[in-house]
Amino acid sequence: MGGTDAFSAFDLGGKFALITGGASGLGAATAELMTNRGARVAIADINMDAASDLARRLDGIAVQCDVTDSAQVRASVESTVSAFGALDVMVNNAGIAPPPDNERFQKMVNNQMSRLDPSITAEPLDILVNLSDGVWDRMIRTHLYGVFYGMREALAHMTPRRTGSIINISSILGMRPSASAPHYSVAKAGIIALTKATSAEVSQFGVRINAVCPGYTDTPLLSHYSEMMRSVIVSQIGMGRMGVSDEIAQVIAFLASPAASYCTGEVFSASGGYLS
Ligand code: NAI
Repeated sequence: MGGTDAFSAFDLGGKFALITGGASGLGAATAELMTNRGARVAIADINMDAASDLARRLDGIAVQCDVTDSAQVRASVESTVSAFGALDVMVNNAGIAPPPDNERFQKMVNNQMSRLDPSITAEPLDILVNLSDGVWDRMIRTHLYGVFYGMREALAHMTPRRTGSIINISSILGMRPSASAPHYSVAKAGIIALTKATSAEVSQFGVRINAVCPGYTDTPLLSHYSEMMRSVIVSQIGMGRMGVSDEIAQVIAFLASPAASYCTGEVFSASGGYLS
């Protein structure tokens, strides 16, 4: 039978990867897993202390980078290429989340309950009308501009070599927009569109681009969520628990590997059955 051996297909030996937001959560788990599979990783983050600690442990490199600044993203890719000699895998992962608002969350639950129980009065949430220009802008800049800058710089190195894998981290909320986070949902949906549009452009030239849509995953991003918020979220997940970082890293590392040689322009979710 033809095809690649089932085990070696996941191997990342000899590959050089750059992971934005690689100092924490899903990015750090991905850096660790890719290293275990043979890759050398560059960890680009605004948190240089954490990036340096992890890079030291994984024998990678740390790069100071704010993904909202195109010059810094360009410099990160350039310093990765000059340190390693090539860039094979780019994971555009850096991200932020809207701060949790317990009071509003309680109201959302209340409004849901009011559909079942007429004695409960629903109240407007006023989420969008209270969204400031600055908050909207920061969310779009971090996710959508960050991924755009990362893809642009990575492709400048990958397309001429006719090889490469770009993995963009969207969210389950990019597929199922949430009333509680319209700006986050829009940014993450935009990442899916950008992934599909650009993969159609470059797939002919050996570069694969895919999006990963994690469901709720227990990382520092969610550390400020109250117990009540976590319980309501978990009640919407078929598997009855949040994910752990390694479960998402497994999908990302797969997409970086030869095992995913026929995957491009695809959207992979790993959500434990969120809202299913
Ligand atoms: P995290 O908070 O643990 O890690 C995010 C990392 O990004 C941090 O190291 C932070 O310093 C870095 N970062 C933030 N802004 C940056 C910027 N402007 N430039 C460079 N680095 C920056 O978060 P987590 O959970 O690992 O999230 C990673 C990605 O996964 C994000 O894009 C997030 O939206 C996405 N995601 C996370 C989910 C979750 O439940 N944890 C669910 C769906 C998507």
